[in-house]
Amino acid sequence: MNNKEHVEKVDSLFTSIAARYDLINDIQSFGLHRLWKQRIVKMASLIEGEDALDICCGTGDLALRLVKRNARVVGLDMNRPMLNVALNQLSRLESISANLLQADALALPFNTSSFDLVTIAYGLRNVSDYQVGLLEVLRVLKPGGRLLILDFGKPSNWVIRKLYYLYLKLVLPVFGLIFCGKPNAYAYILKSLRKYPAQEGVSTILSKIGFNKIKVTNIIFGTMSIHSAQKK
Ligand SMILES: C[S@@+](CC[C@H](N)C(=O)[O-])C[C@H]1O[C@@H](n2cnc3c(N)ncnc32)[C@H](O)[C@@H]1O
Repeated sequence: MNNKEHVEKVDSLFTSIAARYDLINDIQSFGLHRLWKQRIVKMASLIEGEDALDICCGTGDLALRLVKRNARVVGLDMNRPMLNVALNQLSRLESISANLLQADALALPFNTSSFDLVTIAYGLRNVSDYQVGLLEVLRVLKPGGRLLILDFGKPSNWVIRKLYYLYLKLVLPVFGLIFCGKPNAYAYILKSLRKYPAQEGVSTILSKIGFNKIKVTNIIFGTMSIHSAQKK
């Protein structure tokens, strides 16, 4: 599959689930994704007035939490229906210091050294070239700027990994079927995770392209993970 086909496939997948995305997120993670995103916000240590970019912002869940920390936030996503949900959520806030932008994570429409913080939650796994995406992050971060990536992980324990993959393979498509009539949209999580380099591989790319202070935080036996890194 070339890049164009990959982008079209991912875009149409998110178009088909946008309206129910937040609901299914809560169900499939038993609400825990809220805690993990809150953890990202805490790790971000944002100072008032800093510039933050949330790549693959989707329905704006994480961007919204960053806005509440008084940062100037840009949420970027390529999918219009997901951004429309985000727009709706942000418009409910009284003071809004956030912009939403429809663009490709692999070609960020920003100048070099624009942001103090970049976050990516459940987004990197979806892009067609992880290294190109991370090089773009490196470019738009200011020197000393921080990167935080939250995504599904690969547990190092063989038994836990098997059980986890079974959950992703058998249970998630059922949620997709029940709540949006799209079992394949949720079967995609396991497919993309198998390809995703996760804890070790993402750290290797970050180090290879010149990020500093790379750290992996495993959550629930490594079923989820957070990468943190800094631009030199
Ligand atoms: C699983 S959702 C994550 C949404 C949100 N960050 C969250 O944590 O709930 C992945 C998002 O990545 C977006 N996405 C995938 N590939 C992208 C790309 N190349 N450029 C921009 N957005 C992309 C999709 O449109 C989708 O909204």
